Amino acid sequence: MLIVENSPLYSAEFFANDDPWKYLSDLRENHPVSIHRRSDGYEFYALTRYEDVYSAYIDYARLSSSYGTMIDGSYRPEKDSASGRMLIVADPPSHGALKKPIKSAGFNRAMLMKIGDIVRKNIRSVLNDLSVGDQIDFSQVVAPELPKGVLEALFGIGTDDAQRLLEATRTMIGYRDEVYAGNSPLDSLVDSQLDVLDFMSELIDQRIRTESSDDMIGFLAQCVATGEMPRDVALLNGLNVAVGGNETTPHTASLTVDTINNERKEWRKLVDGKVSCEVATQEFLRWTSTNSYVQRLAVDDFVVGDHVIPAGSFVTLWNMSANRDASVFEHPSSFLIDRTNNKQIAFGAGIHRCIGAPVATLEIQTFIEELASWDKAFVVVEPPQRLHSNFMLGLTELQVEVAKAEDLKS
Ligand code: HEM
Repeated sequence: MLIVENSPLYSAEFFANDDPWKYLSDLRENHPVSIHRRSDGYEFYALTRYEDVYSAYIDYARLSSSYGTMIDGSYRPEKDSASGRMLIVADPPSHGALKKPIKSAGFNRAMLMKIGDIVRKNIRSVLNDLSVGDQIDFSQVVAPELPKGVLEALFGIGTDDAQRLLEATRTMIGYRDEVYAGNSPLDSLVDSQLDVLDFMSELIDQRIRTESSDDMIGFLAQCVATGEMPRDVALLNGLNVAVGGNETTPHTASLTVDTINNERKEWRKLVDGKVSCEVATQEFLRWTSTNSYVQRLAVDDFVVGDHVIPAGSFVTLWNMSANRDASVFEHPSSFLIDRTNNKQIAFGAGIHRCIGAPVATLEIQTFIEELASWDKAFVVVEPPQRLHSNFMLGLTELQVEVAKAEDLKS
């Protein structure tokens, strides 16, 4: 089995400035299971084929989430009380018990409709404010409108509070990027995590006082008031939903705009009504694969093909690589906006499959519907700046100019 010393898969710099797609494609074709080491002794196995990634996702009995789903991330049982108490780092049976109230309070049909309305209103308003010739950083001006709408609905807060929450979670996830964290990444990670928890705590107190349960945080607050849910569990899961919602879709939106800029012919098919926004959304999700990988710890030996990954090993499941696997996707390295039977795995699979997947899909679909019917279009005018992170694929800067849509027809 291939063993890579000082692997680039650890390097945020590599993901920002090099070609991780190509590196992973070589691994997938020649070394679908490989070991990646770092000089401090940390090592993980990397799974890069769709089939292997999928089987790892569904084998939650052997591959635990309780030890952190991000390389170097916190939430390890020996260090962090979140393990087993927050969705993303909980295994059965506690995972199921946590998921039930959060799903029914935050991800029901009525909430989805509310989110869809607010997100559409926000996107429309920011697009309407733009004139031909304007130059903006799309990642700062437009992209945050997507999660802001979700926060407003799920947490029952106004735009200013949504903005504050967005900034704090951004630092948590982008803490290895100076754009968000300055020179002291770990301090920023801890400070921003505390900020979000304080904010959630205030919201919970307020909802308990007003006895309101008409949004997700209100529902969790009432569970706290009746003693059904410990307060720290409500806080941690509020944090999990806020991070999951904030740090993904804005990046997907920025990468979507960059993709449209590079794939005008494909985009035209959608504008001309030859492909539905629903089908196109799936291809944007596959193509952008915003959450590049997740990590598990093998608590028992785990067999992949001819290899046995021994108990005690960290295993990483590379979504971005699985989404380009030729055994599942025809012409995997081409962006085909009308791709059908799209089995993209951007949201993971199994019990931890993204609880926000319907929300994220709705956000991206709403966004492309609004872009397709807009009489203007974005033209990328400078090389996009990629996020320094091996965990989230995103852009920290996307300079665009606003043009007349009809001028880009040819
Ligand atoms: C394009 C956007 C998104 C992508 C690519 C994405 C990706 C993922 C992936 C791959 C997982 C599985 C993690 C694992 O197995 O360890 C996950 C879980 C999760 N996501 Fe998302 N996500 C997105 C949007 C959202 C949104 C909008 C929300 C909330 C509003 C959200 C909240 C969560 C939560 C709470 C979990 C944990 C679920 C669990 O462990 O049961 N995500 N996401």
